[in-house]
Order: sequence, then structure tokens, then C-alpha cells
Amino acid sequence: MPGDKCHCALSSVCLVTNTQENLDKMRSTTIVTSSALTGTALAGLYPGLSPLNHTCALQTPYLSCSSSADPSTVDTCCVETFGGLVLATQFWQIYTGYESQGQLNPKDSWTIHGLWPDFCNGSYTQYCDLKRQYDPLPSPNTTNSKPDGTPVPAWNGTKIQEFLKPFGKLDLLAFMNKFWIAQNQPNSDFWAHEFSKHATCYSSFDVECYGLEYREHEEVVDFFETTVGYHQSLPTWGWLRAKNIVPSNSTGYSLSSIQAALREGFGAKPYIGCSGPAYNETKAGKGSLDKGRTVLTEVWYYHHVFGRVQRGQALRIDADVVGGSLGNCATTPGAVWYYERTKGSEREVY
Ligand SMILES: *[C@@H]1O[C@H](CO)[C@@H](O)[C@H](O)[C@H]1NC(C)=O
Ligand SMILES: *[C@@H]1O[C@H](CO)[C@@H](O)[C@H](O)[C@H]1NC(C)=O
Ligand SMILES: *[C@@H]1O[C@H](CO)[C@@H](O)[C@H](O)[C@H]1NC(C)=O
Ligand SMILES: *[C@@H]1O[C@H](CO)[C@@H](O)[C@H](O)[C@H]1NC(C)=O
Ligand SMILES: *[C@@H]1O[C@H](CO)[C@@H](O)[C@H](O)[C@H]1NC(C)=O
Ligand SMILES: *[C@@H]1O[C@H](CO)[C@@H](O)[C@H](O)[C@H]1NC(C)=O
Repeated sequence: MPGDKCHCALSSVCLVTNTQENLDKMRSTTIVTSSALTGTALAGLYPGLSPLNHTCALQTPYLSCSSSADPSTVDTCCVETFGGLVLATQFWQIYTGYESQGQLNPKDSWTIHGLWPDFCNGSYTQYCDLKRQYDPLPSPNTTNSKPDGTPVPAWNGTKIQEFLKPFGKLDLLAFMNKFWIAQNQPNSDFWAHEFSKHATCYSSFDVECYGLEYREHEEVVDFFETTVGYHQSLPTWGWLRAKNIVPSNSTGYSLSSIQAALREGFGAKPYIGCSGPAYNETKAGKGSLDKGRTVLTEVWYYHHVFGRVQRGQALRIDADVVGGSLGNCATTPGAVWYYERTKGSEREVY
């Protein structure tokens, strides 16, 4: 209800400093720290939020990060007030490491990484509600990424994929197993990581938002469905294909042409992430000063969202909207590799 004034947005959340590990390593935004807050028990984002109706149909879907998206004046369940800079992130990965178990990449498609709630200024928090910690391999393993942070205990209970079944969401599960593919871990564990590390930091996926009729894990299913919805509106493979940029182990591409193709498709500039060796560490780049990386791996699409994230209505914005970078790939013409997938690592899905 509108009367749920959600003051002190940050009071119970540990803001972190430091970088994330592994695949999120490339994130270059600053992470906020507030050491006075470390050690506080984590609960929902807005303590005291009532579980009475949050009838979002009756609320104006203000744009996140606008001056109207003020947690002291709106229902935080109906307007995203915490993680208002929404990043739909995708991978180009050429193997899964679990091929022998049938975990394969989708042919002619990039895969889902996640749907991340950054603060409007580009910094972010993680593992915001340890009551909803389902990640069997927390990374980082403390909320602020530092040894003195609140530990994020590894989950050893029911696999998150099981949460979808009581809701009859088997079609969603099937879609996720086609397009939300993990590398070096089972898909379900990766989904759990994305939910607990990131989705718990949205105001609109807070448990209270689901009201008195809340069914356990409802918001988990809702988050997965929302993430899939964003992914379906972002056909990276097709946008590149339209400009004759297709996976190739014999031709390198220029970052500028990849950027131009995605910018045209998306309508704004995404962040383009590369891994692999720096160009000047490769044979071709010996003596060059270009230390950008050479293997195309990720694309992050930035949005502001109208109302709750679940509505799927968003404004597409440039990835450098708050001063962030547009990527870390090599800029030398022809220096970026969009590799063909390893034999046996992909399957037809369409
Ligand atoms: C919301 O719940 C309150 C009682 O908690 C009720 O009076 C009101 O009619 C409800 N509003 C809607 C739109 O359902
Ligand atoms: C970014 O926004 C968050 C949340 O409003 C705030 O806590 C943090 O201090 C801000 N960081 C910077 C660098 O302004
Ligand atoms: C986190 O991981 C580090 C490095 O593996 C380890 O030394 C530390 O004990 C772990 N901390 C917690 C709280 O699990
Ligand atoms: C599972 O996790 C709980 C809570 O962290 C812990 O108390 C328990 O010992 C764990 N069980 C196993 C078998 O690791
Ligand atoms: C690559 O270029 C950077 C400067 O952009 C330089 O600092 C570094 O030493 C170079 N590395 C190699 C291996 O040449
Ligand atoms: C393409 O090259 C990458 C990187 O060397 C390799 O891992 C992959 O298996 C190759 N794909 C094919 C189809 O040869």
C-alpha cells in the first residue's frame, strides 16, 4: 500500500567494496562500502515493509532512477527504488564443461548470464537477503567480498530448479535449460547464484511485495521469468548476424563493427566484454600498445525500468550513462575473436 513508507533504504544492507570474483571480474564500477553496517543481520531491503497488498496495477509506474522513484514517497514494490539500473547480461561461451551430462549451448544464440540491479550511479550490492541464500557456491563468500564481511553460507538444501515445479512452470524450466547455461557447474546452481547474489537486491522482488497470499519461492520464479523475458528481447546473435558477424575461427573482427551492430540492434550502446589474452600478449599484437582483451565473451544491456522490474517495460540506455566503461576489448582492427563453439558443445534449440 502507498502507506508503506520505505525509509532508510540502506539501513540493513551491507554495502560492499572490492570487486566480485570470477565472471563478474570485469565489472569496473566502484562498489560502495559502509563498514559501520557490516555485521548487521541482513533482512529484506526495507525493514518493516508491510505484507498487505501492494497493488501495482493502481500505482504509477515511475521510471527507476528518476526523481519520482523515491522510496519515501512510492510503494517500493511497484517502483524499482533500490536497483534501478537494470543490466540484462549475456554470454558467448564456447563450452560448458558439462557436455557429457547433456548441458549444451544453444545453437545460433547467446546465453543468459543474469539480470542485475545496479544502483543508479553504477555501483552495486550483493547477497542482500541471506534468508534467501540458495547459492551452493557463494562468490564472493562474504557480503562485502572481504574477510571481515558477513559470511555467505553455502546452501546445501533443495536445488533451486525444484522451486519451479510446484508452480507448474515446466515450460520456463525447459527454456532455462536451453538458454541459461552455466559453465563448469550445473545450470541450476548458476541460477541460484544469480538469484541470491543479485535478485535479492531489487526492491520489487522483496517477499513482502507478494502480499499475504505469498507462496514460498514465488518471487524466485517471478525473477526467472522476468530475466527470460528480457533475454528474449535481446537477440545478440541475430543482431550480429545481420551485419555478417558470425562465429569464426579464421577471421578476427573489429570491436567497432561489433559495437555498431549491437548499437543498431539495441538502440543504445551496450557494454562489450572480452576475456582471453591482451592483444599485445598475442603473436599478432607483439609490440602493440593495445592491451584490450581478444576473446568476445559478454554483452551487458543497460536499462531504466518503468515501475516494477517484472513489468518488463524499460528504457534502453547507454552503458556509459553514469560514466562507466563500454568494454575492455582490443580496439585494433580485426583483433577480436568471436569463436566458433567447441564441437559437441551446442545443440539446435529453435
Ligand atoms: C488493500 O488492502 C486493504 C486492507 O489491507 C483494503 O482495505 C484495500 O481495499 C485493498 N486494496 C486493494 C486495491 O485491493
Ligand atoms: C551510489 O548510490 C548508492 C545508493 O544510493 C550510495 O549508497 C552510494 O554512496 C553511491 N555511490 C557514489 C560513488 O556516489
Ligand atoms: C572465503 O574464501 C576464502 C578463500 O578461499 C577463505 O580463506 C575464507 O575462509 C572464506 N571465508 C568464509 C567466510 O567462508
Ligand atoms: C548444510 O547447511 C547448514 C546451514 O549452513 C549446516 O548447518 C549443515 O551442517 C550443512 N550440512 C551439510 C551436510 O553440509
Ligand atoms: C601491453 O601494453 C601496455 C600499455 O598499453 C604495456 O604496459 C604492457 O607492457 C604491454 N605488454 C606487452 C606484453 O607488451
Ligand atoms: C574454435 O577455436 C576455439 C579457441 O581456440 C576452440 O576452443 C574451439 O574448439 C574452436 N571451434 C571449432 C569448431 O573448431
